[in-house]
Amino acid sequence: MIIGVPREVKEEENRVAVTPTGVSAFVSHGHKVLVQKGAGLGSGILDRSYETAGARLLESGEEIWQEANLLMKVKEPQPSEFKFLRSGLILFAYLHLAANEEVTRTLSKKKVTAIAYETIQLEDGSLPLLTPMSEVAGRLALQVGAWCLQAENGGRGILLGGASGVRPGKVVILGAGISGSNACQVAAGMGAYVSILDVNPSKLRYIHDILGGHVTTLMSNRANIEEEVVDADLVIGAVLIPGAKAPKLLSRSLVKLMKPGAALVDISIDQGGCAETSRPTTHHKPIYTDEEVVHYCVANMPAIVPYTSTYALTNATLSYGLEIADKGFPKALREDTALAKGLNTYEGKITHQGVATAFGIHITPVKEVLGG
Ligand SMILES: NC(=O)c1ccc[n+]([C@@H]2O[C@H](COP(=O)([O-])OP(=O)(O)OC[C@H]3O[C@@H](n4cnc5c(N)ncnc54)[C@H](O)[C@@H]3O)[C@@H](O)[C@H]2O)c1
Repeated sequence: MIIGVPREVKEEENRVAVTPTGVSAFVSHGHKVLVQKGAGLGSGILDRSYETAGARLLESGEEIWQEANLLMKVKEPQPSEFKFLRSGLILFAYLHLAANEEVTRTLSKKKVTAIAYETIQLEDGSLPLLTPMSEVAGRLALQVGAWCLQAENGGRGILLGGASGVRPGKVVILGAGISGSNACQVAAGMGAYVSILDVNPSKLRYIHDILGGHVTTLMSNRANIEEEVVDADLVIGAVLIPGAKAPKLLSRSLVKLMKPGAALVDISIDQGGCAETSRPTTHHKPIYTDEEVVHYCVANMPAIVPYTSTYALTNATLSYGLEIADKGFPKALREDTALAKGLNTYEGKITHQGVATAFGIHITPVKEVLGG
């Protein structure tokens, strides 16, 4: 197969879909890889590293789109790329179609075989290609939260780890899933006083087992949230109810009760955010102050650490990319039910329930498409 790796064109997107290690893997399986010049620069990967790994470098993205059988990208196609979409092309990327009718209808009209990273799902319900970005966002939440607390950003001027003879800061984490537990480990490592809340006792038990003694685990309910949040220096929102909007755990009146200059990093902003005062921000202007609390609500946090994010993402996507390239479509999806859940559009049909429901389009079940 010919695998195409174009440069990302979405604003602020510095990741790349395949690393030189990935190129070597595809080449060793007998495939050909085309990489657009400069595709890895945002992640610190030089063109010559791709060449050494066996890729052919091309100047124009257009040529890559035209020649590739399997096009690997990080983000969904942008309007400037719509003209490259064509019947029979296998597109493998983050697509988030349920939130984007224009891309959904374009992929369907152009009869692209679109496989979305984010809907690949293992039998236990976990989403293996979303997990690495939640890990990055969770760890990053402490870094940006500490920055929000600096005086020049309107914060309380608190160093989370404290100093000898001075109390550490208090970090409250809402949600003990992937991003919350990663935030928790970093917060504890920084020497902050940490409490973490979840509605799922087994998530709390896991944190208690690995960090007990350094972290307070609490059941998430109104009373506990209020008690913890009012004297917090940094609150991290890391909740998720799959397929639904994030629950609003922090009302405006509760945010008002927080300490002036405290900070809120709302990782769950991509699902609407868990505070009534949260609204999406961008890396250009990541923070704003509301009710005297510094809010950081960037929906694509991993984009500011493209090196780590690229490697974390491609560690997870490569094996699926190889499956598709080695077995082709539809065999690869027939033999891997997790990968089959990634199929969103095929031959003009919508094959994912969430996407079909979002736009009132008829769903064609993946099973029907795969036949066999
Ligand atoms: N902003 C970003 O850049 C970025 C990056 C990655 C992920 N995310 C988002 O972060 C959110 C969390 O992702 P994740 O992978 O950690 O999810 P996850 O499913 O691993 O964890 C979510 C946790 O929230 C808990 N929860 C649900 N309702 C709760 C409540 N009322 N109180 C307390 N806990 C509750 C769940 O039990 C679960 O443990 C998602 O919306 C995800 O899309 C954002």
